[in-house]
Amino acid sequence: MSARRDEILQELGLMPLWRLRDTAGNASETAAESGAAGDTPAQPELAKREVTGGDAPQVRIDAAMSLDPRVADIMRMDLPQIKESVASCLSCPLHKTRNKTVFGVGDEHAEWLFVGEGPGADEDAKGEPFVGQVGKLLDNMLAAIKLKRGENVYIANVVKCRPPGNRDPEPLEVAQCEPYLHRQIELIKPKLIIALGKVAAVNLLKRDASVASLRGKVLEYRGIPMIVTYHPAYLLGSLPEKAKAWIDLCFAVDTMRDLQSRQQAPI
Ligand code: URA
Repeated sequence: MSARRDEILQELGLMPLWRLRDTAGNASETAAESGAAGDTPAQPELAKREVTGGDAPQVRIDAAMSLDPRVADIMRMDLPQIKESVASCLSCPLHKTRNKTVFGVGDEHAEWLFVGEGPGADEDAKGEPFVGQVGKLLDNMLAAIKLKRGENVYIANVVKCRPPGNRDPEPLEVAQCEPYLHRQIELIKPKLIIALGKVAAVNLLKRDASVASLRGKVLEYRGIPMIVTYHPAYLLGSLPEKAKAWIDLCFAVDTMRDLQSRQQAPI
């Protein structure tokens, strides 16, 4: 294990628990190599693959949205146009209290899309998602699975403006912002979406459920595979959940490998 990755896992409070696994579930380093014996976690969740999500409610939502000229306009935009439109958006009350809009950041052709709930104070000041302490943890989670912000990774939020006091976004705010995220995803075409936390998960899935009940499954957002894990802000205060988030990330790596190999396989 490299010193850098050691440091990252240590900081996450996950050493010596976190190990990147291959598709057969084998740890990439042995206990002897990592200097810790007998610490390989059981990962029953990895076996629980399930593709869920019918598209009938989504079809109804799409039909309703297409009647709205504002939405129809957004659906024709490219990424720079959406960014511009977000920057001047007055469609929900969040514009009154925001400092900066937070459009999203990263590789516009990324295979990995991470979706959070909405900007906090740091993001509102900087105009970039997941900065500050929470962003550092997300960056470390990415590094633990050999990913880096901006390199085959895109990061966005359900709402682009900060809800005051970091409250959950209201349904109207989500509804007004949804076409932006929808169009962003349509253009980026990620192979896999990682929903960070309950707000992201339930708003993408359009059904209420706990993160605990959604973990360990391959769900879908408009036909794109999606995995749910805990929000980094929640993980900052909860060591047991960090271990579960690591299992989720390993599951995501496994799922991505499956998706990539399926695409490469001859028909
Ligand atoms: N929390 C989120 O959900 N998104 C951010 O961008 C920052 C914190």
